[in-house]
Amino acid sequence: MAYQIEYATEQDAPELGLINYDSCKPRMILGAIFPESNQPTLRAYKAIHVMKHLANPETHVFKATDPTSGAIVGYGRWHIPAVLGITPNVPGLSEQAQTYAKDPVAFAPEPMNREIYTAFRAMLEDGRKRHTTEKDMMLDLLVTLPSCQGRGVGTALLRWGIEVADRLQARIYLESTPEGYPLYVKYGWKKIDEATLDMEQHGHGKDTFVLMMRDPLPVS
Ligand SMILES: CC(C)(COP(=O)(O)OP(=O)(O)OC[C@H]1O[C@@H](n2cnc3c(N)ncnc32)[C@H](O)[C@@H]1OP(=O)(O)O)[C@@H](O)C(=O)NCCC(=O)NCCS
Repeated sequence: MAYQIEYATEQDAPELGLINYDSCKPRMILGAIFPESNQPTLRAYKAIHVMKHLANPETHVFKATDPTSGAIVGYGRWHIPAVLGITPNVPGLSEQAQTYAKDPVAFAPEPMNREIYTAFRAMLEDGRKRHTTEKDMMLDLLVTLPSCQGRGVGTALLRWGIEVADRLQARIYLESTPEGYPLYVKYGWKKIDEATLDMEQHGHGKDTFVLMMRDPLPVS
């Protein structure tokens, strides 16, 4: 199916929040950070978080829409450094959305395990610092609604960033979950490292991510 890939807006946030939460809920980390929160609360919090990304001029937030039903079925975020000369094409945010964008964590449900959250952010930052330069693009998020996975939504969202990267001759870095790994290998990413978040002292085990890089295809 030919999914429509378009820049997301503030109005799309509830659906994007739902897709983000529902696709990531099998991951241990969410339950570890928000041990008592329920599904509606975390979907709503993820929707608040979308505003931070919409407000960032180096983040390109995309939605994939099923043309038959009109429903949003996928959500992707690309980081493209300003130096590469591409800015997102999105309308301004409402006052409320701007408030959320400034500090979404202030609206996080409680209790929140800030130690695990900070360790997770630090793990991502460490990998990014060690493996990327200021000219690299990054795939910050790729999620498909669970009921629509395996039907090409992820591929459609990837295509936009891959085309930009090849045109600009930019590398693309990402941190892959086990679910995303086969897809990224198929489109040219290679494993460069691993990063593990150890939550054992909090009674939650470990979550491992594969750090991957894709080199641009040479210009013919
Ligand atoms: C990873 C993810 C975004 C893929 O999206 P998707 O819409 O299912 O991807 P596609 O339908 O375009 O699948 C493309 C390829 O991925 C692989 N793939 C997709 N679903 C898969 C599954 N359930 N099991 C194994 N491989 C799968 C296949 O190799 C497929 O290739 P094919 O076209 O030759 O069959 C989706 O599974 C997801 O949201 N997972 C949970 C969140 C997550 O882990 N995101 C990745 C963060 S790095």
